[in-house]
Amino acid sequence: MPKDLFEKFKDNRGPLGKHSKEAHGYFTFPKLEGDISPHMIFRGKKLLNWSLNNYLGLANHPEVRETDSEATRQYGLAYPMGARMMSGNSNLHEQLEAELSEYVKKPDTILCNYGYMAMLSAIDAIVTRHDVIVYDSESHACIIDGVRLHMGKRFVFPHNDIANLEKQLERASKIAEEQGGGILVITEGVFGMRGDMGKLKEIVELKKRFKFRLFVDDAHGIGTMGETGGGTGEHQGCQDGIDLYFGTFAKSFALIGGFISGEEDVIDFLRYNMRSQIFAKSLPMPIVVGALKRLELMRKHPEYRENLWKLVHYLQKGLKDAGFNIGNTESPVTPVYLKGSIEEATNLVLDLRENHGVFCSMVVYPVIPKGMIILRLIPTSVHTFEDADKTIAAFRAITKNLESGVYNTGKIPAFK
Ligand SMILES: Cc1ncc(COP(=O)(O)O)c(C=O)c1O
Repeated sequence: MPKDLFEKFKDNRGPLGKHSKEAHGYFTFPKLEGDISPHMIFRGKKLLNWSLNNYLGLANHPEVRETDSEATRQYGLAYPMGARMMSGNSNLHEQLEAELSEYVKKPDTILCNYGYMAMLSAIDAIVTRHDVIVYDSESHACIIDGVRLHMGKRFVFPHNDIANLEKQLERASKIAEEQGGGILVITEGVFGMRGDMGKLKEIVELKKRFKFRLFVDDAHGIGTMGETGGGTGEHQGCQDGIDLYFGTFAKSFALIGGFISGEEDVIDFLRYNMRSQIFAKSLPMPIVVGALKRLELMRKHPEYRENLWKLVHYLQKGLKDAGFNIGNTESPVTPVYLKGSIEEATNLVLDLRENHGVFCSMVVYPVIPKGMIILRLIPTSVHTFEDADKTIAAFRAITKNLESGVYNTGKIPAFK
């Protein structure tokens, strides 16, 4: 007799859910209430919040709120029904695609109903078993999962290691040639954990020596990077060399959904072959109207991005001057690297929230190696220099405690 399939879940919540009993509602699945802003309510207390990717402060912008409500009143959340291809298309979906194409300087764009599904499904659609994928080792789960669907060969290069990428491209070229296929290189514009950029310009340069197409996930770069916010390709001056450009609405746009831009032939192929889109409902109208509004504001108000960067520079310089290790971030993503156990990390975050009124995300093993703690700060254009000063002072206090062993209690605090 086989086992009951669900038996294995009795005492097993997986590597991330292992501490769910103690952590749920506090360290994991916390509830932030009130208007989206740098000051939100957590368990009844107003805390200074650095955990949302609301980079340009659009989430609670009065015009955005007004547009979202008005579009919902006008269209409801159902319209249009069905997948784009069958019954779910509209003029406004097409207008948004045209405006996004213009913004990221590509001939065509396909809207997608979740960023994660967009990347995974596009990878699945554009490679056959004869093609070879080469991808960065620190790629986001949506890339990894897309690569998992690939029936052919794949090679991974160590994060941003261009010399190694060349080696992988040599291997990939041989195989692709033997099999009559092509090569897809996948990387990110801004890596969301460390905040460093993908070496897009150097990868594009390699096109002189190798034949491949480049797919860039710029979830954190769209709206934040480049002179017009057009992304990391614009920032590095190599947008033309990116063959497929992905952006999500989940961060700078403060919305949901995403898009992929590129050559007309390829985007049209995706329109008719990308399984996550042809077999799923299209984006509801308020999302489309809301995205158009946000895009208009992003184009009309470069000062939102400029304010973001002023804050980023102030916060990152302040942290560095105070002796913190923020690694090699080149973007608003600001990781603070500390050393300690999971227990120390949880006690430290507890102290930070309860006694200093600062809320940020904590990353520990198994997402990163054992013994490492990352406190991840996401500055936005609506944070202030005072917010940064308060946070740096709080970080000073907690690291003093960390170093003197105050948080080494041997257990994770429980919350009810
Ligand atoms: C690098 C990267 N790619 C893709 C995604 C997925 O986007 P979405 O939230 O729109 O599904 C995220 C996170 O949201 C991300 O950080």
